[in-house]
Amino acid sequence: MSDFPAEPYRIKSVERIRNISREERERKIAEAKFNIFQLRAEDVYIDFLTDSGTSAMSDNQWAGLLEGDESYAGCKNYYHFEDTIRSITNFKHIIPVHQGRAAEHLLFSNTLKPGDLLPSNTHFDTTRANIEYTGAEGVDLVIEEGKDPQADHPFKGNIDLYRLKEFIKKSGKEKIPLGMLTITNNSGGGQPVSLENIRKTSEILRSNGIPFIIDACRYAENCYFIKTREKGQENRPIIDIAREVFSYADGCTMSAKKDGLANIGGFIGINDDQLHEKITNSMILVEGFRTYGGLAGRDLEVIARGLMEALDEEYLAHRIGQVREFGELLRSLGIPIVVPTGGHAVFVDAAALAPEIPRHNFPGWALTVALYREGGIRAVEIGGVMFGKRSAEGKDLFPPMELVRLAIPRRVYTESHFKYVSGVFERVMSDKKIIRPLKITYEAKFLRHFTAEFAEI
Ligand code: F0G
Repeated sequence: MSDFPAEPYRIKSVERIRNISREERERKIAEAKFNIFQLRAEDVYIDFLTDSGTSAMSDNQWAGLLEGDESYAGCKNYYHFEDTIRSITNFKHIIPVHQGRAAEHLLFSNTLKPGDLLPSNTHFDTTRANIEYTGAEGVDLVIEEGKDPQADHPFKGNIDLYRLKEFIKKSGKEKIPLGMLTITNNSGGGQPVSLENIRKTSEILRSNGIPFIIDACRYAENCYFIKTREKGQENRPIIDIAREVFSYADGCTMSAKKDGLANIGGFIGINDDQLHEKITNSMILVEGFRTYGGLAGRDLEVIARGLMEALDEEYLAHRIGQVREFGELLRSLGIPIVVPTGGHAVFVDAAALAPEIPRHNFPGWALTVALYREGGIRAVEIGGVMFGKRSAEGKDLFPPMELVRLAIPRRVYTESHFKYVSGVFERVMSDKKIIRPLKITYEAKFLRHFTAEFAEI
């Protein structure tokens, strides 16, 4: 692992982690009903469950905590937060929320009604759930390459512009109150969207009078890909690219737990005055007043500082390089992964890794159980359990891909951790029977993956 710059930071504070014994892991995963969400984090050695809210803060951010102004209304950190976000996005109104899904809930509950449609490249699971909660439907229109783990394309997160146009024509624009793009496309493998695709999506939506909203969780990583992969962008500062990206949109939802380098928080950026008023009125019920939105003043400060740190090009070069090289390490062991590697995670193609396990026995989920049992590693399935559904006739419906995501927390793990993980994969590859088929014994109606219970067959 060397084809990228070393960390542009050094370690000032550390957190002890432990790998409990194999017997203990065996017991813990059975007690968790084979659902890694039900494990205690202390029982996990390497936690690749998510890159969300798991970043290590900088000394600058920790110092910012002490500058928290905890006044109920109008705290000084809100204005720093607002100024920072406005300097990047240029949206007229900046509304803090406690995390990304709160932004989604507030935006959709104030814009969507039953029967409405909301196209995107691919909606993330909380986004889709919040859309469906209003009775509307989220529609995924990612390009064909984005559904093929092996297809080589620099921007596999792009939306299919032709299908977007046809979709609007067919459905009627009055049924589409918003259009979205998720950058990077988390559910599609953390793949970036090109600047050109963002611009053209904007043109199509706006020419139909449909506001364009960006799900901006990992926008800085997306901008780094634009800089390094899109012709003509290579000499631009990341922040310039980001400003252009947001200039094409009418608003954004953002979980600051990703490219805000914060452990909690998020925001809505929006230009529409009326919508801003509706959202800030309704948020009082659940999130709080519009200058804190479910966050402490110190959290707002941490986000304001983190957002700027995440735009630092040296940081991004290390970050994206680390993820890429980890992917290469797994590939060298013959593990099928989504290529090219995305921004925040390596996605293992579990259907290709364990083809003998049928989809209704959840090969991706089974791999997450195997990784924990073998090595205390926690990864997450993005496949048949997370996005599968049961039809009215009781038939299983599966998403196109069966992936396991190894999400890499920002500024947290070192090269030796990645080597350890690849060693565990090597063991799994040498005896695939370690991956045991599963059946679901309990599931909830929404977001079933969090609480589903399983039995091994
Ligand atoms: N949109 C995208 C693309 C996301 O990846 C997430 C969260 C959200 C919205 C919601 O944000 O968690 O702050 O409420 N993704 C996390 C993940 C949970 O693990 O990928 P949130």
